[in-house]
Amino acid sequence: MSTILITGASSGLGAEMARQFAARGHDLALCARRTERLEALRDEIRAAHPQRRVELRALDVNDDAQVFEVFRAFRGDFGGLDRVIVNAGIGKGAPLGTGRQDANRETAMTNFVAALTQAEAAMEVFRAQDAGHLVLVSSMSAMRGMPKSMTVYAATKAALSHLGEGLQHELLGTPIKVTVLHCGYIASEMNERVQQQVRFMASTEDGVRAMVDAIEKQKAQAYVPALPWTALAPVMRHAPLPVLKKLL
Ligand SMILES: NC(=O)c1ccc[n+]([C@@H]2O[C@H](COP(=O)([O-])OP(=O)(O)OC[C@H]3O[C@@H](n4cnc5c(N)ncnc54)[C@H](OP(=O)(O)O)[C@@H]3O)[C@@H](O)[C@H]2O)c1
Repeated sequence: MSTILITGASSGLGAEMARQFAARGHDLALCARRTERLEALRDEIRAAHPQRRVELRALDVNDDAQVFEVFRAFRGDFGGLDRVIVNAGIGKGAPLGTGRQDANRETAMTNFVAALTQAEAAMEVFRAQDAGHLVLVSSMSAMRGMPKSMTVYAATKAALSHLGEGLQHELLGTPIKVTVLHCGYIASEMNERVQQQVRFMASTEDGVRAMVDAIEKQKAQAYVPALPWTALAPVMRHAPLPVLKKLL
């Protein structure tokens, strides 16, 4: 049994990770902006697993001071944190130069700058404990530069994956572990509008089960679900752009 902090726990992958980790016997520190969603999730988890402890806090990950306050407060609640999952993210974005600098900036700030702040706050706790597991929820789009509305999103996820690898480099052989998850398409609110159109869309339950398995094994990095994404990863990384364009 361990204590797991999940950001962006109010919907999609974050909420489903909370359900599945509770079923596996873990206690939960859950945060997001939509607290009524968090309260409904806590009630659902308590009804299914009355012995689990679930604490909630409102958090906008773009508020740097609040990220540190909330992470420290959760650490105080539980007397420590075993795992922090940096999951909050958005899928906004538009082709560069089309008047949507606001959306692209919001994506860059939420998916990378705020993720960095969450990693800072988590590492502060883990360094003090000399133990802990940091999980960064990246994406298959980190493999390559992506076009149009995906350009900034993919760039943020590539940066996040590199951040994770940098920490792994530093922390090799120490009790602090870092996992980078490269998620393929998994049904959630973020991709509700595209779910009918894309190939290889996993259900929320199946996709998150693959995430949770990789996290519990403390893998350095994983493509989730493993199929087809483990096979597609080297193709996405190395295919010439004209070939990639046809594939995606
Ligand atoms: N679904 C996929 O196919 C897929 C693939 C690759 C990677 N991912 C990544 O998986 C993560 C979860 O996404 P999802 O698919 O589950 O999407 P989702 O259903 O839209 O959930 C996104 C979560 O992030 C939170 N969030 C967004 N902005 C926030 C902010 N400023 N402060 C605090 N929380 C914020 C939302 O909570 P509030 O709005 O309540 O604050 C929500 O709980 C993201 O990092 C995404 O990039 C998803």
